[in-house]
Amino acid sequence: MTDPRLDRRFPDAAAMETAALRRLPGFIRDYVEGGIGAEGAVARNIADLRAVRLLPRYLAVDAAPETRVTVAGAVWSAPFAVAPLGLGGLIWPGCEPVIARAAAAAGVGHVLSTYATSGVEKIGPIAGPGGWFQLYPPADPGMEADMIARARVAGYAGIIVTIDIPGVTRRRRDMQSGLVVPPRIGPRMLAQIAGRPAWALGMARRGIPVFENFAPYYPKQGGLDAAADFIGRMMTGHITPDGLGRIRAAWPGRLLVKGVLSVADAELALSLGADGIVVSNHGGRQLDAAPTAPDVLPGIRARLGEGALILSDGGVRSGLDVARMIALGADAVLVGRPFLHAAAALGARGPGHLIDVLRAELETTMVQLGCARLSDLRGRLWQGAE
Ligand SMILES: Cc1cc2nc3c(=O)[nH]c(=O)nc-3n(C[C@H](O)[C@H](O)[C@H](O)COP(=O)(O)O)c2cc1C
Repeated sequence: MTDPRLDRRFPDAAAMETAALRRLPGFIRDYVEGGIGAEGAVARNIADLRAVRLLPRYLAVDAAPETRVTVAGAVWSAPFAVAPLGLGGLIWPGCEPVIARAAAAAGVGHVLSTYATSGVEKIGPIAGPGGWFQLYPPADPGMEADMIARARVAGYAGIIVTIDIPGVTRRRRDMQSGLVVPPRIGPRMLAQIAGRPAWALGMARRGIPVFENFAPYYPKQGGLDAAADFIGRMMTGHITPDGLGRIRAAWPGRLLVKGVLSVADAELALSLGADGIVVSNHGGRQLDAAPTAPDVLPGIRARLGEGALILSDGGVRSGLDVARMIALGADAVLVGRPFLHAAAALGARGPGHLIDVLRAELETTMVQLGCARLSDLRGRLWQGAE
């Protein structure tokens, strides 16, 4: 059920996005919305998904739609989860615990980024059984082992290893805005912040966030420069099959591999012991020529078969988009930017409202399509034959 008062102003994710973009300083907006290169992949993620048509069956069984799904042993009330999003506390002050709490309250999944500004110790207990920790394996094996151990102690049942950041990225907008990691606020940024009082006030109250997952390992001296250098050195290059095997051996729980775009990587990940994969081009932030989920998901599903666990992401902005991804072959999806928009637009009420809206839209879509079960959606992909 959605809240009718919130619905009036924010009937969908697009309305939350519009409001959010007005409340964020320019350099933050650029960081969130931007992608790599000419941002063709960012645009295609949205366009390709919206181009997917679904064929309704109106002479159908009249049953209430069932949106529950089991993902790697955990039951989610709807087939979507919050995608891992780095730097959350800088994007909207204090948003990370708020988003995790909303996901837990609604019974959907939540993935905490390695680069979150709230650590596993804080978010793990909030996210509860739907919580996953996303690992960018750091260059130092001792630190990798320690992070994995911390995620376990924090109660995480699963980790998601992201494989699609093998090197330094050149994101034009961030280069132009001067956003570096960890953030250093320069005079141009200060001017942008001055025009965004809600963001500025939140930041003043909470202080500039730090990467809590990395905090125990930070150099104790040298200030921001040393921290920036340290983080740069922790980005490892390609995750090798051996590296993934080592993580698999160290992690006793469920493990997914995120950033898969090819059948070859999908099969290799599963053969190395992954419980499933996330088909993703990282929101168009890594390779501008990367295919989108609609490009590759049907082929990967066909090759892996119905028994394999496949999540996907990129461009999901509505419950209809969730249905489209499932029709294309996903079991469930991750939703990224919309959760940041919801928090920025509506504060603490935003993420919960977004979840309600996505669920209501998915149910409406399933009713229109004559689908009582999520698995029925696979058969509704319109391929131009009728
Ligand atoms: C601001 C931002 C930060 C992100 N940080 C991470 C991250 O730390 N780890 C990761 O695996 N993916 C990260 N991603 C990618 C998302 O997890 C997800 O794949 C992508 O956002 C999905 O596309 P969407 O934003 O169109 O829903 C980030 C994306 C954005 C927009």
